[in-house]
Amino acid sequence: MAVSYKDLGLVNTREMFKKAMAGKYAVPAYNFNNMEQLQAIITACVETQSPVILQVSSGARKYANQTMLRFMGQGAVEMMKEMAAAKGLKQIPIALHLDHGDTFELCKSCIDTGFSSVMIDGSHHSYEENVALTKKVVEYAHKFDVTVEGELGVLAGIEDDVVASESTYTHPEEVIDFVQRTGVDSLAISIGTSHGANKFKPAQCTKNKDGVFIPPPLKFEILAEIEKKLPGFSIVLHGSSSVPQEAVKIINENGGALKDTIGIPEEQLRKAAASAVCKVNIDSDGRLWMTAAIRKTFNDKPEEFDPRKYLGPARDALVEMYKKKNVDVLGSAGGA
Ligand code: G3H
Ligand code: 13P
Ligand code: ZN
Repeated sequence: MAVSYKDLGLVNTREMFKKAMAGKYAVPAYNFNNMEQLQAIITACVETQSPVILQVSSGARKYANQTMLRFMGQGAVEMMKEMAAAKGLKQIPIALHLDHGDTFELCKSCIDTGFSSVMIDGSHHSYEENVALTKKVVEYAHKFDVTVEGELGVLAGIEDDVVASESTYTHPEEVIDFVQRTGVDSLAISIGTSHGANKFKPAQCTKNKDGVFIPPPLKFEILAEIEKKLPGFSIVLHGSSSVPQEAVKIINENGGALKDTIGIPEEQLRKAAASAVCKVNIDSDGRLWMTAAIRKTFNDKPEEFDPRKYLGPARDALVEMYKKKNVDVLGSAGGA
């Protein structure tokens, strides 16, 4: 039987994006795969009074089971209500979003089981195929007031199972036609971000005095052209982890072997968040902090074998990270 997200206490992204556009901030879209990540996201977003988009990738769906994830989405709403009441804070809007949906059937299945927003990523198809697929998803989703994100342009790196070695930047001349013909509610664009913890090759970067790689700037000129063509339209930035070197250092000092890790500098994300970018996707930074905390506990306390003893500190590290993102980077704190 079909389940409506409205009965689960979730919201779609329409109102969130309207407020983010007016308030010149971006709504965080955090990926989750397990309970501790979800608890950390909700805790941080209630405490900073930020709206939030909980993202489920196809990989997460396979790992954690779609029905389980939907119940976790519903559980997140209940946890949020309880926490807000206990702290005397306002309730925050929560959307449950399919990240990088690649087929109509997958999007439909998420819509039918309580997701409030879906992404149909047709960016690896030809332009006309992307239009046709995205339009089909929008027509179905809008019957249930579910919002849809489309994508134009390809990000370098891995997008679920699709690997692209080079970015294909979004062509601004295509955006009006794409948005008009598909009816999407938001558009993911490619302006130099990419997925994962190795977003740039060292050869593409300069080094600062501390030996930290400084990547080339994002293509803000493309974003500006898109904004000019679609005034007031919600833009989405994928691949927006900053890859904190502090977390990488803890990982490598505790048995890890990460190399050439380079992310998007926070000041570039701040600049994007103040523009038409209303949604910023972050997954890798959570993975890094979680791994750092777990590796450190394993090293410091080799006698521990209770998962709560290493997942607990990992969850605490995530809460701090998400709060910092909301307050210092995306500007979404207080936007609920
Ligand atoms: O877009 C990529 C997200 O980080 C999801 O990654 O497919 O490994 O869950 P995943
Ligand atoms: P990061 O790998 O930069 O965290 O990007 C995540 C993302 O775009 C999920 O869709
Ligand atoms: Zn993505």
